[in-house]
Amino acid sequence: MKFWTQEENIDIKQLTKSELIELLQLEGEMQQSLFQKARVMRRLHGTDKVMLRGVMEISNYCQKNCDYCAMRAANKGLERYRLSAEEILYLAEEIKKTNIISTIFLQSGQDPNCDPILEEVIPELRKLNLNVLLCLGERPREVYSKFAELGADSYILKFETSNPDFYKEIAYTSLQKRLQCLSWLQEAGFKVGTGNIVGLPNQTLDTLAEDILLAIKLQPDFVSSSPFIPNQNTPLEKLSYGNINYTLNTMAIYRLALPSALIPTVSALEKIQKHGQLMGLNAGANVLTINFTPTGYRQKFRIYSEKRFVVSLDHALKTIEEAGLQVHLPSQETSLNYSLIS
Ligand code: 5AD
Repeated sequence: MKFWTQEENIDIKQLTKSELIELLQLEGEMQQSLFQKARVMRRLHGTDKVMLRGVMEISNYCQKNCDYCAMRAANKGLERYRLSAEEILYLAEEIKKTNIISTIFLQSGQDPNCDPILEEVIPELRKLNLNVLLCLGERPREVYSKFAELGADSYILKFETSNPDFYKEIAYTSLQKRLQCLSWLQEAGFKVGTGNIVGLPNQTLDTLAEDILLAIKLQPDFVSSSPFIPNQNTPLEKLSYGNINYTLNTMAIYRLALPSALIPTVSALEKIQKHGQLMGLNAGANVLTINFTPTGYRQKFRIYSEKRFVVSLDHALKTIEEAGLQVHLPSQETSLNYSLIS
C-alpha cells in the first residue's frame, strides 16, 4: 500500500477511488490506525462530546416499497399506527425530563398524513426548547419549507446508495428525486443528514467508494453508514448482514473527510455485534439515538428487523463511558438527572 502508512496523516479529499477502496478493506492493526486518525480528527475539531438524541417513531405507514424495509406499502401483514399530537407531546416531556437530551428526533415511514400533526407539534416542541430533527422521507418543497418555518432545524434523508440503478431496483423511485429533496432541504435552511447502507444487493467496493464520494460532495451536517439488516417479510429477507468492517471503515473515512459532522453509531451495529455501537464510537462517531417510542408501537416500527436492538439511555451512557468519552450537555446550566443515569 503506497499512500497509506500508519504514521502519516491522510488528506481524504486528495484520495482517489482506488485508494478509498483500499481503506475500506483495512483490518487489524491498519484498521486500528485508521480509527485512531478518525478519533484524533474528532478531538481536534471539538466534536468528541457525544450528542444524545431521543427518537420517537411516529408512524409506520409508508407510501414507498423499499425492498429492505418491512414498513414497505406492500407488506399488508403489518399493523399500522400513527401517533397523535397529544401522544407526541406527552413523550416529548419524557425526553425533556432527562435533562441531557435536547434534540427530539421524529421519524416515520413516508406518510404525508403525519404533516398536519407535525404542523401542530413542531411549535409546541420548540416551546419546550427542544431541537426538532425530522426523518420523514420525500416531500414537496413547500412542505419542507413549512416545517422549517415552524422551527424544525434538521432533517435526515439518506441516499442509501449512490448508484442510480441500484437505488431504482430496491426503492422503485429515482435517486435523482431523493437528491433533489436533499437540496430542497438545504435551501429551506435545514441542517441535513444523509448516508448509505452497506450490504445492499449488487454493491461492490467500487460503489461503496462512490457512496463516500457522494456523501463528501453533499457536505452534510450529519452523515451515517449502517450495515444492511435482513428484514422479515421483505424481498431481501434472505440476504446476509452487511459487512461490519466496511461500515466502520466508512464511518472513519466520513470523520476524516467531514471532521465537524455529527456521525451516529447506529443500533444496527449493536444488532449484528455485541458492543457494535462502542466500535462505532471508536471509529469516530459522536451521536447515539435513544428510543422513546412506546413499547406497544416499537415492535411495529420494523425498520431493521422484528427483533431490532432498542437503545436505552442506560445502554447509551454505558457505551459512552466504555469509549472513554463524555456526553455533550445541552447547556452548562443544565443539571443532570442522576436517577436516570445511574
Ligand atoms: N438495513 C439497514 N438499514 C436500514 N434502514 C432501513 N431499513 C434498513 C435495513 N433493513 C435505514 C435506511 C433508512 C433509515 C431510516 O434506516 O438507511 O433511510
